[in-house]
Amino acid sequence: MNQIQVEGGRPLNGDLVVQGAKNSVLPILAATILSGGVCQIQHCPALRDVDSAIRILQYLGCRAHREGDELTVDTAGLSRCDIPEDMMREMRSSVIFLGAILARLGRAEMSYPGGCELGPRPIDFHLAALRTLGTDIDESTGVLRCSAAELRGGEILLSLPSVGATENTMLAACGAEGTTVIHNAAREPEIVDLQNFLQKMGASVHGAGSSTVVIQGKRPLHGCCHRVIADRIAAATYLCAGAAAGGEICLRQVDYRHLSTVTTALSQAGCRVRSTSEEITLQSDGHLRGITPVRTSPYPGFPTDAQALLMAALLKSQGTTVFVENIFESRYRHVAELQRMGADIRIEGRVAVVCGVSSLHGAMVQASDLRGGAALVVAGLQTGGTTLVGHIQHIQRGYSDFVENLARLGAHITATNT
Ligand code: UD1
Repeated sequence: MNQIQVEGGRPLNGDLVVQGAKNSVLPILAATILSGGVCQIQHCPALRDVDSAIRILQYLGCRAHREGDELTVDTAGLSRCDIPEDMMREMRSSVIFLGAILARLGRAEMSYPGGCELGPRPIDFHLAALRTLGTDIDESTGVLRCSAAELRGGEILLSLPSVGATENTMLAACGAEGTTVIHNAAREPEIVDLQNFLQKMGASVHGAGSSTVVIQGKRPLHGCCHRVIADRIAAATYLCAGAAAGGEICLRQVDYRHLSTVTTALSQAGCRVRSTSEEITLQSDGHLRGITPVRTSPYPGFPTDAQALLMAALLKSQGTTVFVENIFESRYRHVAELQRMGADIRIEGRVAVVCGVSSLHGAMVQASDLRGGAALVVAGLQTGGTTLVGHIQHIQRGYSDFVENLARLGAHITATNT
């Protein structure tokens, strides 16, 4: 299947269990390397990016076996320290294997990672942190050749709270002699999930969720069993879809605290949102209003990953909403596609101004990245016609059963072939 067809105008009703978090499971899969044993990862979403991570693990000599939503990984047989370029290009998270392989083998070799095109995505913080921990990194051939006779703990100050650099450093530091302190660490829930996983393996890691993470390295580690947290961005996607289409949806097994900025914005837009510890219910009549400016920022701020989704939900709102994208330079590639559907959006640098329109029409559009692609589907749910979304491989990177879930809620949506 290579395109999604959506007929707009249907409300969404019903409930849904939210998939495991892509951005948790990927660093956790890299972290299994540290255990040198068997890890059971429960609530593991079926995603292209997870398949890519499994391919990397298998290439490195590890074994992986999926049964339902449980993935068992045995990293005892790790025998290589290199990752081929085509595997690195598949996704940005491939770079997190660097810290894990270094911690286990003291050597690693890989090219620069790929991933969504959101503007420049350097890895200088990752490399600077690994160098502080005693890694020699040769970048002269366009390939990262890394070696560390002995990793040793150190003080790392991130100039921005980078999610990936925090994770990479946590993993490398588990293999370093002594104490590592990460200052200005990212505070995302996925960092906390990674810490929980590392602790279950026997690692001494504390402070995740705050700006300071402390790791005592060189503890003996072992396999463990871990359930991945719910995907807050997938949850945000269904909430935005429900808000835009109208109806009442209930998301189960999701931590509402991870979504407070998104639910606050949707409440302001006119939705009724009720949360209990593990559920969020959203009721909408489909008539939304513009809201105060939405500025993306690191957690606990409004997530950049939900920017396109909320924008799509507000295309027919009454009034105007300003978006300011502060994390990535080029994260408005969905806008040109939304304009094809009749959206009124103007962009000036990092700012996008959405003026609500009375109607949208179906169109042929193309996903340019994961969340931007899902946003096109959210927009399609509100049109008076048929929308065909192409290049859905981007969407498949991060959503499991996306079309099936929306169809179960009442959307007229199918995955088709051109
Ligand atoms: C992660 C998420 C992604 C999310 C992003 C921001 C995963 C798999 N992906 O990506 O979905 O959109 O966090 O919440 O978890 N930067 C540098 N140098 C570096 C590293 C980052 O300049 O070495 C900059 C980036 O260009 C960006 C900002 O820091 O402007 C934040 O990036 P970062 O938090 O690292 O994002 P990712 O970990 O790539």
